[in-house]
Amino acid sequence: MSQPIKVAVTGAAGQIGYSLLFRIASGELFGPDTPVHLNLVELPQAVKAAEGTAMELDDCAFPTLAGVDIFDSPETGFDGVNWALLVGSKPRGPGMERNDLIKENGPIFVAQGKALAKGASDVRCVVVGNPCNTNALIAQHNCREVPATRFSAMTMLDENRAKAQLAKKAGVGVGSVSHLPIFGNHSSTMVPNFEVANISGKPLLDSISDRNYLEGEFFTTVQKRGAAIIAARGKSSAASAASACIDHVKAFYNKTPEGQYFSAAVPSDGSCYDVPSGLMFSFPISSNGDGTYEIVKDLEISEYMKGKIAGTRDELLAERDVVKDLLG
Ligand code: NAD
Ligand code: LMR
Repeated sequence: MSQPIKVAVTGAAGQIGYSLLFRIASGELFGPDTPVHLNLVELPQAVKAAEGTAMELDDCAFPTLAGVDIFDSPETGFDGVNWALLVGSKPRGPGMERNDLIKENGPIFVAQGKALAKGASDVRCVVVGNPCNTNALIAQHNCREVPATRFSAMTMLDENRAKAQLAKKAGVGVGSVSHLPIFGNHSSTMVPNFEVANISGKPLLDSISDRNYLEGEFFTTVQKRGAAIIAARGKSSAASAASACIDHVKAFYNKTPEGQYFSAAVPSDGSCYDVPSGLMFSFPISSNGDGTYEIVKDLEISEYMKGKIAGTRDELLAERDVVKDLLG
């Protein structure tokens, strides 16, 4: 067995944490030959609950779990970690938009960015806590010591949701739907670009030609899925979010097969899709499997999609303006 990969998970005692930790510890994320060491990072008042989760992790007897530690501060919890999964923050309630959380959750990512800068030079940081694009932007700006490209925010859940909807509509298994990039913000302006998607290797529009459905029900269902789950469960998505987080880290960790891509919000380099440099924007991404990745820049974008992408970009610019005092 190799050296353990050290993974910090904030909000370890929360809903997502409870689904996520066991899947990391089981070896599913980095493979059966790679041990992991988990740092559970929580608020002081939730440390006791995290202790319960740590007991259960022990009780699973996962051969890949090299150790578990619990921390009540990011400064100690992020020391020497290779991955920091920033989940801990407040979820929205019914009737709220995700960016209504910005004032309350934003400051968390100032402190966590600073803590990463102090203790974790060889780190990849994934932000799940909402509003995740702008929180990732805040963390990255407060951690200039780490290259900006090592920060990302999760839109994999949106891609998974979009694929599931289209698979149902086309009457195929979800594995048949590919090339479905999410552009922009993890919010109700996100853009699931169905125009470039494939079903069983052929253009999706050959199988689903009803544009009224694609531009209407499909778009809105994906954009508002998080709110629909909150309305149904009384709590925000958790198991599906944890599953998407596993998919997200796996997608960055492994080389993306030739011609494929996945969705994640990363800092724009300003060179494509009319998105200003630095904005934490969801793009199609191809991982080189060595810790680096490329933004897939050459997708053909229709005038219809350009308008949608401009809308989600403008929302992110407005969010950036709201948090300008937190951007270090
Ligand atoms: P939860 O309330 O069940 O758990 C949050 C946990 O975070 C709590 O245990 C709390 O003590 C902890 N916490 C709060 N502030 C912290 C801090 N500064 N440091 C460490 N821990 C802290 O919430 P949840 O359902 O697990 O959701 C967590 C976040 O993930 C929410 O913001 C939610 O909106 C977001 N989310 C994002 C996506 C996505 O696709 N990006 C999907 C689902 C949920
Ligand atoms: C989701 O998409 O399910 C999460 O971002 C939670 C939410 O607030 O919608």
